[in-house]
Amino acid sequence: MDVLTLSRVQFALTIMFHYLFPPLSIGLGVLMVLMEGMYLRTGDDRYHAMTKFWTKIFAVNFAMGVATGIVMEFEFGTNWANYARYVGDIFGSVLAAEGIFAFFLESGFLAVLVFGWDHVSKGMHFFATLMVSFGSIFSAVWIIIANSWQQTPAGFHLVTRDGAVCAEIVDIWAVIFNPSSMNRLVHVLLGAFILGAFFVMSISAYYVLRRKHLDFAKKSFTIALIFGAISSLAVGASGHFQAKTVAHTQPAKLAALEGHYKTGPADLTLFGAPDSTAERVDYAIAVPGGLSFLVHEDFKADIPGLEEFPRDQWPNVPLVFQTYHLMIALGASFIGLTLLALFFLWRGTLFEQRWLMAVFVVAVVGPYLANQAGWVSAEAGRQPFIVYPKVTWPADGSPHPHLEMNAGDAFLKTADGLSSRKVVGSDQVFGSIVMFSVIYVLLFAVWVYVLNDKIHHGPEETAATPPPSTTASDLVETAARRVNPSGYSLTEPHRDTPGKTVEESVPPKE
Ligand code: HEM
Repeated sequence: MDVLTLSRVQFALTIMFHYLFPPLSIGLGVLMVLMEGMYLRTGDDRYHAMTKFWTKIFAVNFAMGVATGIVMEFEFGTNWANYARYVGDIFGSVLAAEGIFAFFLESGFLAVLVFGWDHVSKGMHFFATLMVSFGSIFSAVWIIIANSWQQTPAGFHLVTRDGAVCAEIVDIWAVIFNPSSMNRLVHVLLGAFILGAFFVMSISAYYVLRRKHLDFAKKSFTIALIFGAISSLAVGASGHFQAKTVAHTQPAKLAALEGHYKTGPADLTLFGAPDSTAERVDYAIAVPGGLSFLVHEDFKADIPGLEEFPRDQWPNVPLVFQTYHLMIALGASFIGLTLLALFFLWRGTLFEQRWLMAVFVVAVVGPYLANQAGWVSAEAGRQPFIVYPKVTWPADGSPHPHLEMNAGDAFLKTADGLSSRKVVGSDQVFGSIVMFSVIYVLLFAVWVYVLNDKIHHGPEETAATPPPSTTASDLVETAARRVNPSGYSLTEPHRDTPGKTVEESVPPKE
């Protein structure tokens, strides 16, 4: 394989591995803020135990995110030096802002969050949790701005330095609010919230199935379920706005996302297999004119097909199409699952649905896949460009966009972003891929081991404080928790043996 392909494989491998961790930190961070907020508001020690437990998992995950994130910055220098030179002024500023405003905030308060429970006031601890969560979101803000700038460059001019063309910032606000950054940010954050919610639901459902830490598990599950349902509904809406931006700024990407080869009204395909040789989508199940409607609110509106662009400007259509549709199918399944669980919650029988709990244990794989698939479709969809050219549309509104690629226009093909071949050769890149793979397998094993240990250990049991309302049933409940902190309720019948109370059916000791 040539250096270009190997370098792309290397970058894809390292960034996809890295992207297992940041979305979980972002999603868990917000959930921790919600849980600790409830603790402050109610004084109920169970929320305290919940925040403490999820904080431990957050800390492990955060460390993995930092360790795996540094690698890409080195790859910019070693493999992608021409690209680094081209975008250096923009990326340098944005990534420096990330380091100073977000990473320092996050890591500074992390110590208070993890070790400060008995050393600072409740209010101060909550502030630390808020800052850590805010820091992880703020990190995403800067990284998304940098990524979006390459998709829709703005706020720069081109200069020549030492014979090389570079983009230099002329308007930092235009860089920050480039045409795709805010839509993408909302979408990525919602994807992260969904992952955080499904992660908490997965571990909580596991405890419910094993009949361990029941009170903790049910409360954690409920909070995460509400958060996950809202985020799942919102991500579809945000994805729609994003698709509209893509239609305007990256029409070849939109055509690839939907396998739309010929200019004309475009269908919304649910499933299919694009064939770029025959220029059609086989086995397609589609809503006729659906894409035209979503983009232009008109089922008959023309959408430019891939035929508008030379073949060498087409992305890998099957890859972009399938990853995009995988993301959407998973997104629809998250809505279905969370709404179903909300229905059972409303009926008061959610935690008796053992089959649904089993589904939720494994469903966490879904948001991991959807987040990865979303990024693959977005990044592979802008190929062969690493910095996407400006698109101009005919004044008469006809669907024939034009990519501006004259001397003086900003654009960079991925192949031209590579370091000079004298600097890095294919054998070196291949060797580094093998080494990264080995190290990542080991890192992943450590992560799974530590996570498993934390899950096995479970939350610290609380000698529960009485809830603020001291009704007779609350007091009995509190007494029950003191007797058996991880177990059953005295006041509710044991659901798995209908009609029996805890005295009648002794829960299995784990
Ligand atoms: C349910 C309907 C959904 C729609 C209509 C949708 C739409 C889109 C579109 C159009 C893009 C490409 C944007 C671009 O290239 O600029 C995208 C990317 C992405 N999507 Fe989705 N999406 C949906 C669900 C999801 C879900 C459920 C997740 C994750 C849990 C997710 C995570 C992502 C990510 C991480 C990206 C890449 C970053 C970006 O470009 O925004 N999406 N999505």
